[in-house]
Amino acid sequence: MKPDPSPRNRSLVLSPADRQRLKPLLPVSLPKAGPGGDATPRDLVVQGDCLELLRSLPPASVDLLVADPPYNLDLVFGSERGRKMGDTDYEDYCGTWLDAALPSLKPGASVYVFGDWRGSSALYRALGARLAVRNRIVWEREKGRAAARNWKSAHEEIWFATLGEDWYFCAEEVRLRRRVLAPYRDREGRPKDWESAPEGKYRDTAASNIWTDLTVPFWSMAENTDHPTQKPEKLLAKIILASCPAGGLVLDPFLGSGTSAVVARKLGRHYLGFELDPEYCLMALRRLELAAEAPGIQGYEDGVFWERNSRLPRG
Ligand SMILES: C[S@@+](CC[C@H](N)C(=O)[O-])C[C@H]1O[C@@H](n2cnc3c(N)ncnc32)[C@H](O)[C@@H]1O
Repeated sequence: MKPDPSPRNRSLVLSPADRQRLKPLLPVSLPKAGPGGDATPRDLVVQGDCLELLRSLPPASVDLLVADPPYNLDLVFGSERGRKMGDTDYEDYCGTWLDAALPSLKPGASVYVFGDWRGSSALYRALGARLAVRNRIVWEREKGRAAARNWKSAHEEIWFATLGEDWYFCAEEVRLRRRVLAPYRDREGRPKDWESAPEGKYRDTAASNIWTDLTVPFWSMAENTDHPTQKPEKLLAKIILASCPAGGLVLDPFLGSGTSAVVARKLGRHYLGFELDPEYCLMALRRLELAAEAPGIQGYEDGVFWERNSRLPRG
């Protein structure tokens, strides 16, 4: 018998009533364009294969493409089983969905693609053949397993690329509030480039390409679901705030439990997500309902990102 969940367990569980209410809200194809001909579908979760759905998107309509494709691993995703491919096959696979997605991007659009270190070189080649690669973000993922004769794997990667030379990027929106270790003062005794608050001394620093302030969702966090590779909302918040203007459209062809759509909604952007597995689609729809009631993002408050989800910097 399954043990009773801890009273502190806040993970999302779909009730029979949720399923009944949400199933009719889940389309399996994109709506036809209106009489004007060019209405961009938005604020939708669509159940289906992104390789087909991407091809029916209107051209030049998306501001930000966020893709978290199955990593090149032997891993079960709901009803699907991911099979590890050779490096070249993985590169071809990524090239196929990228080719289907790129016509839908606006000229100033950005692209972020997630992966682990093994798939990273194949991803780089697939992106580099089609886009201008601008950066490689590394984020610390604390849940790695210890290994007897190797380093514990504790990071994942995100490639950042743009379609053209003139892309949207707002560095001011993604500052990180860090505790100041060396609080230097000028001759008059004023803090040099840091702030003093009753809670401690801090500095709002420019975001770098190494992200150590994230927590992978776990059972006591309200954003947690059963999805095996769910990303933190805080991670998507950084990407969306930096690379999608307010009111813009975020496209996620591998939506999973809906993290990108949920964060887009919370931050005043539109979203469009595709996902093969109906159960994950329902989770995404439920999370979107909850986002309307609780629009906060753990670790992002007062317009800044806080170190490791701490509301206040340590003294
Ligand atoms: C790495 S997970 C994405 C997790 C997501 N970022 C989240 O936070 O929950 C990849 C997802 O892509 C879905 N998927 C795989 N192939 C797909 C395809 N061809 N079309 C749509 N979804 C697909 C899988 O079912 C899986 O849920």
